[in-house]
Amino acid sequence: MKRLSVEELAKKVLNKEATVLLDVRSTEDFQDWKVESDHFQYVNQPFSSWNGNVDQIASDLPSKDQEIVVICARGNSSQKAAKALVEAGYENVYSVEGGMRAWSEHLEPVKIGNLKDGGELYQFVRLGKGCLSYVVMKDQEAIIIDPVRMTDKFIEFTNEKGVTIKHVIDSHLHADHISGGHELAKKTNATYWLPPDDADEVVLSYEPLKNQSEIKIGDSPVTIQAVYSPGHTKGSTSLLVDEQYLLSGDILFIESIGRPDLAGKADAWVNDLRITLYEKYSDFSDDLIVLPAHYSSNHEMNEDGAVAEKLGVLYEKNKGLQVNDAEEFRRMVTENLQPQPNDHERIRQVNMGKESPDQEERREMEIGPNRCAV
Ligand SMILES: [Fe+2]
Repeated sequence: MKRLSVEELAKKVLNKEATVLLDVRSTEDFQDWKVESDHFQYVNQPFSSWNGNVDQIASDLPSKDQEIVVICARGNSSQKAAKALVEAGYENVYSVEGGMRAWSEHLEPVKIGNLKDGGELYQFVRLGKGCLSYVVMKDQEAIIIDPVRMTDKFIEFTNEKGVTIKHVIDSHLHADHISGGHELAKKTNATYWLPPDDADEVVLSYEPLKNQSEIKIGDSPVTIQAVYSPGHTKGSTSLLVDEQYLLSGDILFIESIGRPDLAGKADAWVNDLRITLYEKYSDFSDDLIVLPAHYSSNHEMNEDGAVAEKLGVLYEKNKGLQVNDAEEFRRMVTENLQPQPNDHERIRQVNMGKESPDQEERREMEIGPNRCAV
């Protein structure tokens, strides 16, 4: 049996490699959340039901010379399953180290582009959960936007690039994943910014990110300008970076729009969402490159793994931007809501600083896909 790291699994997804993925978790867990790729062929056979007795599942498996990647929740049953397959004569079997838990924590940095006057912008793609974080670098300074819980990844990355993290921003109070914002700022002595309208119950220290707030980094500085854009949450704030990029938070995605209900306020916020998308964003240049805080399907990903599209293209193609009528828009948004993310209320409490679970609990709370979109 061979081992496959989540980094190697990520390459298979990004390179669109074909493989058979044998997921040995329960059917319920598999249906709720899995490693997504259009090029994978999925077999779900819970280990507890076949217990290493390969004959029981052989009819679902490919021929013995084909590659099979086995995954489970934490990497234990997948090892047993993979071993059983090898003993039964399958020649090309891998067990994913750390399972879905490690998959959920893997971040893939993708370069989005250069800034006009030097500097770079990177997107950190969390393939297992669909979260997107951003690193903007100018001269020797960096700003991190919507960092996820794995804060060391951002510290390692900026150390390698030789830049110092000066500012950390959360575009809104997240409900679907645990923010690394405050922790990252604390570890690096950076300033932590959060929209004040999302911070009524926040007990962490922060600098209020208000409409028109400007944050600059670098010697010949790049400007990050805040634009108040409520609707997903009351405080949701977008960021214009270098007059080229629109970091839209959870307001606008590539194929969908943000959901306004994560604090149980769909009806109150739906009109804010419409005004943001149809009145505020429509004033921006069509050439701005929209960079959201989440994606929900690999179809939203470009060839190079980046999740990015021009605003003008989204106004043509994104279904959420085609419904101008207020009443019709309200119906579309409130009638199409997916289930709430796992543990979303507790995640909000953690992001407000009111609860402080240990690392293991944080991992457990984040199990499952993100569901920020309508
Ligand atoms: Fe969100």
